[in-house]
Amino acid sequence: MSSILGAEYCSFTMRKFLIDTDTASDDAVAMCMALRHPDIEVVAFTVVAGNVPLDQAVQNALYTVELCGETTPVYVGADRPMLRDLTTAMEVHGDDGMGDQGLDLQGRTPAEGWAPQVIIDTIRAHPGEITLVPIGPLTNVAIASLMAPDIAEKVERVVIMGGTGEHGPGNVSPSAEFNFFVDPEAVRVVLRSGMPLELVGWDVSTSSAVVTAERRAEILALDTDIAKFSIAIQATLGSFAWDETRLAGPDFPDPIAMAHAIDPSPATSEFLGVDIAIGPDPMRGTMIVDHFGFGQIAKNATIVGHYPEDAFFDMLLDLLST
Ligand code: RIB
Ligand code: CA
Repeated sequence: MSSILGAEYCSFTMRKFLIDTDTASDDAVAMCMALRHPDIEVVAFTVVAGNVPLDQAVQNALYTVELCGETTPVYVGADRPMLRDLTTAMEVHGDDGMGDQGLDLQGRTPAEGWAPQVIIDTIRAHPGEITLVPIGPLTNVAIASLMAPDIAEKVERVVIMGGTGEHGPGNVSPSAEFNFFVDPEAVRVVLRSGMPLELVGWDVSTSSAVVTAERRAEILALDTDIAKFSIAIQATLGSFAWDETRLAGPDFPDPIAMAHAIDPSPATSEFLGVDIAIGPDPMRGTMIVDHFGFGQIAKNATIVGHYPEDAFFDMLLDLLST
């Protein structure tokens, strides 16, 4: 969303976000947050296979951009992890990834260009200005980093939804969060890239971003199209939360990661050494954190330990209110 005042009246520069997504029900809400924020220009969405196969994720992203009344370009990226078969999560987000609500999620056309190259070109064109927000598996970001290592010192921030944070359990295996599980090799490439990484793990979502019945009522009371959309598409995620992860409603990992990207000030975080287990199962995708600085893992990422629930929902309600 461009500023309502228009560039000639603005004394500030719109912040530029580039969002990499495996668009499903929580990604879509995070996308709406960024598109609705008056100080943020979403320069592009790049899409990666994850929650759903690539083509569906692309269509879901295009639908969400259109729902928000924007024309932000959506680019196609990797249709599978770097070295593995694709693991999807339709059992969590629905066969279409958007809660199987019968939405018209076909027939829209993505922009010309390949996502990893778009990530490289965008960061190089705006050195020091791009906040890269990966909210799916890190395949596109890893490929971009391997193709163009120089982007590490040109990107302003990289705010990743991924991992289990400081002490969290997994959501796809006992110790692995989905985005890190799908493509652990890509995670290791990114962790060793030198990029300014900020990790918002699933533990932050389960502690501060669960859409309980009360929060659901607050969002629906906004009575806007994107508020109703944001709740309706969580139908499958809500069932998964109740039945599998014992939460009091669907949780919003990508939206709370987006909140941190938008405003990191309420967060508690620490700069630590982080690595990832490549395998074998059941270790695949497990995040390894050097909490006490033993030194085997060089410090490489800021891990968010806490993001206050009220700060998150206050921002979410504000951004879904129009
Ligand atoms: O583990 C949660 C993450 O996996 C979120 O990004 C969700 O959209 C799925 O991609
Ligand atoms: Ca996601």
